[in-house]
Amino acid sequence: MPTTAILGLQWGDEGKGKLVDSISARQDFCVRFQGGGNAGHTVYPEGKKIVLHHLPTGVLHKDCINLMAQGMVMDPFKLIDEIAEVEGRGLKLDERLFISDRIAVTIPLHLTLDMDRESGNEANRVGTTKRGIGPTYADRYDRIGVRMADLLDETSLREALQRAVNVRACQTDGNAPGVDSMIKPLLEAGKKLKRYVADTSLLLAEAIKEDKRVLFEGAQGALLDVVQGTYPFVTSSHTTGAGIPAGVGLALKVEDAIGVTKAYCTRVGEGPFPTELTDDTGHKLREAGGEYGATTGRPRRCGWIDLFALRYVCRISGITRLAITKLDVLSGFGELKVGVGYEGHNQPGLPADIRAFSALKPKYESLPGWNDDISKVRKAADLPATARSYLRYLEEFVEVPIGIISVGPEREASFETNGAPRD
Ligand code: IMP
Repeated sequence: MPTTAILGLQWGDEGKGKLVDSISARQDFCVRFQGGGNAGHTVYPEGKKIVLHHLPTGVLHKDCINLMAQGMVMDPFKLIDEIAEVEGRGLKLDERLFISDRIAVTIPLHLTLDMDRESGNEANRVGTTKRGIGPTYADRYDRIGVRMADLLDETSLREALQRAVNVRACQTDGNAPGVDSMIKPLLEAGKKLKRYVADTSLLLAEAIKEDKRVLFEGAQGALLDVVQGTYPFVTSSHTTGAGIPAGVGLALKVEDAIGVTKAYCTRVGEGPFPTELTDDTGHKLREAGGEYGATTGRPRRCGWIDLFALRYVCRISGITRLAITKLDVLSGFGELKVGVGYEGHNQPGLPADIRAFSALKPKYESLPGWNDDISKVRKAADLPATARSYLRYLEEFVEVPIGIISVGPEREASFETNGAPRD
């Protein structure tokens, strides 16, 4: 069976959750490989909204096995609440959820460090989700992190917490949580989570050997990748296709890599966004698209789609087909613009230097829009002619075929297509 991945191609919030939800219904395994509670995958099973932060979206399908692999970070208290919410809907997770024993654990100290930095000197802010993501990953790479396995053994946990507190002491003002306040609740959380803990890379190796259908569920988007994205205004994990092998602990290659992009573009938090619209059109996009964060409720910055950046991230992420989401939101805009490059920028890639990135001035192509409500369309050929030509332009520029189009939040509002519709 081919392995499939669903990966965001912008700054997150591309509508991956809904696609993962419909595709994971046909999968044996659904695997999260990076990020943690900073993600907010909104899905509407049986019409009722649920936002998943840590749990793979496959938990909503009773025959799908879900792995939280080692590349993730996990806040045990938030995860326990999330498990309770899903189980409260009658979806039992025993034997269906496995948490890597090597997963990096967010401890209360990480939340304090993230909050302090975000509320301190403006020059040091990233605009994070304040879920402790950066400090948790930093501690992993500084080799002072707490891992899931530590939550199951008091001596290991005490040692790990003491190391983190000692090393980070110089970063805190003395009010940060100490070992004694953290250890008991963490051990209790460990007891609750114990039954889900496993060596997920071995489980995955076995599944692939047995030819199971496996889906890798990306969180955030390629432009938030800790190395390839708009650094330092990024998250702290590897969000591109390159993050999958290390994130799951298996040197594998994904055959069907679906890259998800909105038909326009949004971003939350700080950092450059060349095609951002701060005028009435940007406002109209935000209201039409309901662009408010699923995790934090923050209004999202909105703008036209940036095809130049999209082409670049498709190459580095190994994308084999595109999913275009929220096409319906573009109805009624008259003229549509698409970013096709930047003034004076003559390289195929994006600048590594943040000042150079922030200075990029987009070049646009204008394309005719459409006024019809397309939210009830269920096949590509039924889209208005101008919507079809918008998709053809996008596909030809990015050089990756369109495989999925989405025109609304319901499961049936996403349909497959064999490339952009031809006339
Ligand atoms: P962090 O991941 O909480 O450290 O935040 C770092 C940056 O990534 C901030 O700009 C966040 O707004 C952004 N970010 C993190 N997770 C998401 C997501 O799921 N969707 C959109 N942006 C995100």
